[in-house]
Formats: sequence, structure tokens, C-alpha cells
Amino acid sequence: MKILFATGNKNKIAEAGTLFGELGYDVEGLLVNGNRPNFIEPQCNSLMEVALSKIIQARAMIKNSDLEGCAILVEDSGIFIDSIENFPGVFSSFIFETIGLSGILKLLENSQDRGAEYRCVTILDWNGKIYHSNGICKGKLGKKEVGTSGFGYDPIFIPHEGKGRTFSEMTEIEKSSISHRSNSLRGLLTYLQHPSK
Ligand code: IMP
Repeated sequence: MKILFATGNKNKIAEAGTLFGELGYDVEGLLVNGNRPNFIEPQCNSLMEVALSKIIQARAMIKNSDLEGCAILVEDSGIFIDSIENFPGVFSSFIFETIGLSGILKLLENSQDRGAEYRCVTILDWNGKIYHSNGICKGKLGKKEVGTSGFGYDPIFIPHEGKGRTFSEMTEIEKSSISHRSNSLRGLLTYLQHPSK
């Protein structure tokens, strides 16, 4: 069974593919006229609102096409930093593109409290039913960028379960075993395996 993941981020598709693949589901990136979907991100205060907007937009993109009726997956995620009142949260992407990791590290320069967590909301539109799930990965922020894999905040995020390494120092499989996205996707898999839940 195929699931179309509506995202422009190849890392996210790979992460979902690793997890769903083990159970026989095939995850592919949704392409509309050969292009990855380009969502209009609404000004919202929660990941759930953004994810809901994405599923509505994704459905509209495939309406009256061969893909109408396919299983569609969307997600929204971000990093929430304890000492700056959970900022940047829903603005993670914007802050990454504007001040970057060096800007974040500068903001926290004098902060002893390095606690942070990634959060993720996933929504699956499957056979006309909508399933949603949340995932969290708790950790702390390092003082410099370390590692080369992953994307976004991974070079400075040190998950509690990662033996002191950043996500960028882990393989895709290691990150997938503990990440916020995988934790959220596991919730969706539970629904698929036990639809009455
Ligand atoms: P969006 O969910 O694509 O709107 O973006 C969320 C933003 O949060 C990304 O652009 C990244 O900056 C950050 N983010 C979310 N998940 C991860 C992750 O697994 N690794 C690194 N950065 C992430």
C-alpha cells in the first residue's frame, strides 16, 4: 500500500519510509505536476493548525487527478527551547532561514538552561478517514554545531537518548528510532494496525 507524503523535505520522506517500510507500506513524496507541494503556511499558534491546513491544501492539489483517493500524509514540526519560552516553535523554519543556527547559539550564549524539545504533528488521510498523532523528542542544545547528517537544527540538538551525540552525528536509522517525527508516525501506525482505536 502506498502513502504519499506531502512535503518538500527529502529527509522527512526518508524517515517515514524507514518506519512504514518495515510494515510493508511504501512512502513516496507527493508530486503535483512533477513538483513537490508548495504549501501556503498560515499564521498559526500550533503545529496542529498548520498540519490541518496542509492536509486541506494537499487534498485540493490532487482533486480531480489520478491521485485523488490515495493515502496522503502531512506533518508539521518544530523545535521548542525552554529558556526562551518555547520559541521558535511554529516559527522554526522561518527562524532557521533568517538567523540560522549561529543566531540561535548567540541567543543562548549566556544561558545555563539548554533544554529543548522537538515536537511533531502528523496527519494521515486514509480511505476517507483522518488520523492524527503527536510526537516529542526531548533533549538539549549544544554550544556549537556538531555532525554532518540530518537537517535544520540537528547539528545543535542533543537528544537525551543519544549518548551525548547530536542528531547530526547519527545515522538515519538511529535518528528514526528516537525522533519526534518517528514517535508521531508510530502513533499513526497503531491506528492503521488497529483501526478501531
Ligand atoms: P516544517 O514542519 O517543514 O514547517 O518545518 C519545521 C522546521 O523545524 C524545519 O524547517 C526545521 O528547521 C525544524 N525541524 C523540524 N524537524 C526537524 C528535524 O527532525 N531536524 C531538524 N530540524 C527540524
